[in-house]
Amino acid sequence: MKKNILVTGATGNLGNATVAQFRQDGFQVIVIVSRGRKTKGQFPEDVVVYEADLTNEDDTTTVISEVVKDHGSIDAALLLVGGFSAGGIKETSGVALSKMFSLNFNTAYFVARPVFLQMQSQTSGGRIVLVGSRPALVARDGKNYLAYALSKSLLFKLAEFLNAEGGSSNIVTSVIVPSTIDTPENRKAMPGKNFDDWVTPEEIASTMAFLIGEKGSVLREPIVKVYGNS
Ligand SMILES: NC(=O)c1ccc[n+]([C@@H]2O[C@H](COP(=O)([O-])OP(=O)(O)OC[C@H]3O[C@@H](n4cnc5c(N)ncnc54)[C@H](OP(=O)(O)O)[C@@H]3O)[C@@H](O)[C@H]2O)c1
Repeated sequence: MKKNILVTGATGNLGNATVAQFRQDGFQVIVIVSRGRKTKGQFPEDVVVYEADLTNEDDTTTVISEVVKDHGSIDAALLLVGGFSAGGIKETSGVALSKMFSLNFNTAYFVARPVFLQMQSQTSGGRIVLVGSRPALVARDGKNYLAYALSKSLLFKLAEFLNAEGGSSNIVTSVIVPSTIDTPENRKAMPGKNFDDWVTPEEIASTMAFLIGEKGSVLREPIVKVYGNS
């Protein structure tokens, strides 16, 4: 039987490559997209699509219980939703902080919580992947993106707590840390850069496939920096 993998942020740059990778690897791919998002023709027919506003806890909890009811188990969950904002201490108000916390932390926590509890009820446990960022790890890189970096930094701590709790149930949470991803938006925003130095969505997706797959099954508490040459 196919393993069930849940992917959030599946319509994004990394999401698209991730869906393709895990379909190719034989998973049943289940995606959650934003409420009202038009997805006609976006995914192959075997990809199961649910809708939720993942910044809303009730909406998210409901959709995860529907996924469990319909599919029985969640073997892995890749929580890719996130967003960026610039601004150092001078520009970063509480409102700006809340916005980034909601998009980068809450969207992950609201999914991770019911998914983790579901995985605790499965004898096989499960795998969760969160997406961090370099500015969250290196203050010099993050000082001009304060709200973004602070919100992403919480994901590393969340992974530690989930690993402390999940170790005995074979639930492993990883954080994948991309540098600049080679996306159309980044090419437009930074036309002077050498795009070859950037990591591609496909490279990140295949790294996640390693983490989730048989070869990565011995890994514990992984923080994987996918920086390419940048
Ligand atoms: N791009 C980079 O250079 C870079 C670098 C380091 C880390 N990252 C991280 O890598 C991850 C993927 O990046 P990306 O560039 O692929 O992002 P992206 O293209 O901007 O995609 C973001 C995804 O999140 C979804 N989303 C946003 N708000 C949502 C909500 N409330 N409910 C449900 N879905 C929601 C979007 O769906 P809709 O479009 O339908 O809203 C979209 O599918 C993010 O966590 C990002 O922070 C990116």
